[in-house]
Amino acid sequence: MKKILLFGATGQLGHDIQNVFKQSEDFAIIPLSSKDFYFSGDKDLQLFLKDNWPFDCLINAMAMTNTGLCEDQEKLAYKINEKAVREMAMFCQSKDIPMFHFSTDYIFDGKRDFNKRNAYSEKDQTNPLSVYGASKLAGEQALMETSKKYFIFRVSSLYGSVPGGNNFVNTMLKFSKEKDELKIVNDQFMSPTHTQDIAKAVHYFIINKIQDYGIYHCSDRGVCSWHEFTLEIMRSIGCDINVIPVSHIEFPSKLERPSYSELDNEKLSRYIKMPKWQDSLKEYLDILRSEGRLR
Ligand SMILES: NC(=O)c1ccc[n+]([C@@H]2O[C@H](COP(=O)([O-])OP(=O)(O)OC[C@H]3O[C@@H](n4cnc5c(N)ncnc54)[C@H](OP(=O)(O)O)[C@@H]3O)[C@@H](O)[C@H]2O)c1
Repeated sequence: MKKILLFGATGQLGHDIQNVFKQSEDFAIIPLSSKDFYFSGDKDLQLFLKDNWPFDCLINAMAMTNTGLCEDQEKLAYKINEKAVREMAMFCQSKDIPMFHFSTDYIFDGKRDFNKRNAYSEKDQTNPLSVYGASKLAGEQALMETSKKYFIFRVSSLYGSVPGGNNFVNTMLKFSKEKDELKIVNDQFMSPTHTQDIAKAVHYFIINKIQDYGIYHCSDRGVCSWHEFTLEIMRSIGCDINVIPVSHIEFPSKLERPSYSELDNEKLSRYIKMPKWQDSLKEYLDILRSEGRLR
C-alpha cells in the first residue's frame, strides 16, 4: 500500500482528496491539519517530515486562503504560502518523491478583454494584485526552484462539501433563506470549481503514475460572473430571490481581485477533462441534499 502525506486535510480540497482516495485500495492517505503541525515558520518542518517518513508522495492542500488576512499579515502569508512549500519541496527532492501543490488564478491580474473570452494558459504572464496572489506565486517559484518532481495545479473559486465549510455557494444558500434580494458583482469573471473535481484530477495523476511534471490549470470548465453564478445557484434550488447585478465598485475593498481569470484547461485535458461548472454545481448540490444539508 502506498502512503500519501496530505497537508491541509481539514480544508475544502483536503477533505475531498481524502474522500476520493477512500475508493482506492492501493493508497492510504495520512491526513494532517494544523493540529498535527501548525506551520508558523518557527517549528522544524524537516524534523516533522522525517518523523513521518517513509511515504510515497506529498500533497500540499495547506495554505493561508483568507485573502483579507493575507493583506493584514503579509509575513505570515509568505511563511505559509511560500516558506512551507519550499521546505516540503526540499524534503521531497531529497527523497526523490513527487509533490502535488495548488496555486490560484489570483497570480494573474485579470486585465483581459472579456469579450474576447481568452482564458489564461500556463504560459501567460503572471502579475498578482494582492498579497495572497503574490505569496502563492512565490510558493510556485519556491517549488519549481527546489524540486524536479512537482505538480502545481492552479485552481480557482473553490467550493467543497467539508462540514462547516465557508464558501460562496454555502453563503448564497444561507442568504436564499434569509434575504429578499441580493446585490452581486457582475463585472468580475472566474471559473467556479468544485473541489471534488480537483481531487479526482490529482487521483488520476497518482494512480496512472503520470510523470509529466509541471504547472496545470485545473478549474471547472467555463466562466461566469459572480452574478451569473448566483443566478444559477438560485435557479438550481428553485429560489426566486431578486439578484441585482452591481459593479464591484459598490463593495470597496483593500483587496484587488482579478476581473477576468478564466483558466484554460487544455494542457490538463491531455489526461483528464474537467466538467462544466454548471454540471459540477448540480453535483455539489446533490451531495448536500444526499447528506441532508439541503432540502
Ligand atoms: N478557496 C479558494 O477559493 C481557492 C481559490 C484558488 C486557489 N486555492 C488554493 O487551493 C488550495 C486549497 O484551498 P482550500 O479552499 O481547500 O483551503 P482551506 O479550506 O482554507 O483549507 C486550508 C487548510 O490549510 C490548513 N492551514 C492553514 N494555515 C495553516 C498553518 N499555519 N499550519 C498548518 N495548517 C494550516 C488548514 O488547517 P486547519 O483547518 O487545521 O486550520 C486547512 O486544512 C490552497 O492552496 C489555496 O491557496 C483556493
